[in-house]
Amino acid sequence: MGEADPAVSIDAFRAGMSRLGAAVNIVTTDGPAGKHGITASAVCSVTDTPPTLLVCVNRSSSAHDVIVGNGALCVNVLGQGHEDLAMRFGKPGIAPEERFTTDAWTTLVTGAPLLASATAAFDCRVIERHSVGTHSVVIARVVGIAKADLGQSLIYFDRSFHALPPRAIAPSA
Ligand SMILES: Cc1cc2nc3c(=O)[nH]c(=O)nc-3n(C[C@H](O)[C@H](O)[C@H](O)COP(=O)(O)O)c2cc1C
Repeated sequence: MGEADPAVSIDAFRAGMSRLGAAVNIVTTDGPAGKHGITASAVCSVTDTPPTLLVCVNRSSSAHDVIVGNGALCVNVLGQGHEDLAMRFGKPGIAPEERFTTDAWTTLVTGAPLLASATAAFDCRVIERHSVGTHSVVIARVVGIAKADLGQSLIYFDRSFHALPPRAIAPSA
């Protein structure tokens, strides 16, 4: 438990995961523990009954204890044009308050910052947390949803940002 299989190096795992394209999100929080936010691609749906998602947050991130302390978070799904914002929230050394100085922010139910231009936003209360390796798997119940006009989705793939082409591909069979 907790130890890497020597046959699979961290670098090999990361190189493989770079081929797993993922939506880019800003996960925010606000409350008694403070206001914070990080860029996260490790976000996924758990179940729609009841509406629940998960976010994997590195426990060494300065945002980790703030999210857990507030027990609330908002997943802001990014679109094309949000690349600079993704980097503002995606690298260490930028103070929490500095991350929110651009763009328009609002709130929905929990008070966690909601990006007005987000493709979609899921306002959530944290219901469970599990430590796995370096990260916390944070399970969150969705208590509010906002949606903007559908634009191009921002995808992180091959270690860079891509806009998802607005072209649906139908399976042949
Ligand atoms: C595209 C992208 C995706 C990221 N995905 C995650 C993630 O899923 N979970 C995570 O903990 N950090 C992720 N990060 C890193 C955090 O955003 C980064 O460590 C954090 O903003 C650093 O700030 P802090 O450590 O001061 O909180 C990602 C960064 C980028 C650029």
